[in-house]
Amino acid sequence: MNTILNNIFQSVSEDADTFNRLFYHFLWAAGIVFLLVMGATVYVILKFRVRKFTKALKPEPKMQWLERATIFLASGIILLFLALTIMAVTDIQRQPEKGQQADIVIVGHQWWWEIRYPEEWVMVANELHIPTGKRLWVRLESADVVHDWYVPALGRKADMVPGVTNYIWMQARKPGVYEGACNEYCGAQHAWMRIRVVAHSPQDFGQWINSQQELAKTPSSAIAEKGKALFEEKVCGNCHAIRGTKAVATVGPDLTHVASRKTLLGGKYENNFENLRAWIANPQGMKPGAHMPNFIMTEKEIDAIAAYLYTLK
Ligand code: CUA
Repeated sequence: MNTILNNIFQSVSEDADTFNRLFYHFLWAAGIVFLLVMGATVYVILKFRVRKFTKALKPEPKMQWLERATIFLASGIILLFLALTIMAVTDIQRQPEKGQQADIVIVGHQWWWEIRYPEEWVMVANELHIPTGKRLWVRLESADVVHDWYVPALGRKADMVPGVTNYIWMQARKPGVYEGACNEYCGAQHAWMRIRVVAHSPQDFGQWINSQQELAKTPSSAIAEKGKALFEEKVCGNCHAIRGTKAVATVGPDLTHVASRKTLLGGKYENNFENLRAWIANPQGMKPGAHMPNFIMTEKEIDAIAAYLYTLK
């Protein structure tokens, strides 16, 4: 199984910087207040402790100035943080220029991500590739229930609500792999709705887009050829698309370049022949609850389909 460690304080975007700054301001202020309150509590316990009740306690003289000072201080801190929060939220929610189209469209599905590049006519699943240096305007949608897109290093999180279109800014200042996960409980496999974002330099991104724009490779071996025929015959194409073949449905992930991805099943497994084969043979065993049916095929048929899909680099 594939493990992803997520550092939520990693940042390669202005928006994530803003969040981190706000968080650390809160942390410092809360830490100082905590120490002051604990210190005062210990001081009062020691100073006013009574070993034996031999006589009536004398009331302490009133310290109204101290009461007033703490009320003002506490209110001041709350107002300051209210202002800092409003400034951060306003900054992050700024709108793009009028008429700007989304650079990327991401649709949450139970339990995978559909990713489209409308300008480039490219469609992939689960692994988002982006160019560095550009602030991307990203449209978020849902195909079924509420999901939540969250890759901490790249900016804010946002819900994907059925029937509603949300937008976020996304940015990566330097190349790298940034990880995230669905952040809203969306059913049985919510935990395996991971996100893998690969940020490339603009040239590398251009190459990647070109490779994804190509139609699916034609099978070069007999077994892959048989796999392609089975893929079409066994109605896999009722849910999946492989551009360049008869399969054009978009219910499940686009498989045109499935073998070029690093992971399978929303980040649950490494993408290799064995896992791909095991998935086709027994979907419920690999990802219980997943919407892919078991077509009950012979071992040889499964081998052929897996061999075909694994050639789709
Ligand atoms: Cu999708 Cu949780």
